[in-house]
Amino acid sequence: MNVLTTRRFTFSAAHRYWRPEWSDERNQATFGKCTNLYGHGHNYELFVTVAGPVDPLTGMVMNVTDLKRLVNTVLDEFDHKHLNEDTPYFRDLVPTTENIVQVLWRLIGPQLPEGVQLHRLRLYENADLYAEYSGALTSFSRRYEFVAAHRLHSPGLSDAENRAIYGKCNNANGHGHNYQLEVSIGGAVDPASGMVIDLVAMDAQVAAVLAEFDHKHLDRQVADFQA
Ligand code: NI
Repeated sequence: MNVLTTRRFTFSAAHRYWRPEWSDERNQATFGKCTNLYGHGHNYELFVTVAGPVDPLTGMVMNVTDLKRLVNTVLDEFDHKHLNEDTPYFRDLVPTTENIVQVLWRLIGPQLPEGVQLHRLRLYENADLYAEYSGALTSFSRRYEFVAAHRLHSPGLSDAENRAIYGKCNNANGHGHNYQLEVSIGGAVDPASGMVIDLVAMDAQVAAVLAEFDHKHLDRQVADFQA
């Protein structure tokens, strides 16, 4: 039986999004501030998940010290570097989160010991944005927030039943939360942009939907929750 085990790694790196064959306007429209001439940087977080049977002697899928050494050796090429300038991997490839995670997959996977497979890599550019790769599909995820009030109350139930089921959430005038919405898109990485989806367009689309929810009382003001 295979068991998954995950370890977290960190590195800091600079990068720049730019296609030399595109016009300045097209680069700006696609990549926004990430086109800055000298680059900008992130504290990346990489979650490495390996799969395999548990070794009956060590009680581990893979010796954690070996995994740490292996991945950190790979990340030495990336840590405190400018990805476009200081590594050989992004000469023709835009160093997007999607492309970086695929490069790391190719560098880490073949080095794992016999019987251990690389199951998944998840790379966070920041707490709200990550790409995931498991050898076939690449997914890109981004977290959005909205704030709203609501009341949990079913018109099909009596007042006493509503209070019993929903408790404090049945308060007549409602209460509120900061909601977090994670949107994940799976697909092929566009070879030119290095992205699964046009991020600028995705942000606009999600913002348009969330504008209907944000700073509203959901069951009093949003059509989807009207009885
Ligand atoms: Ni960036």
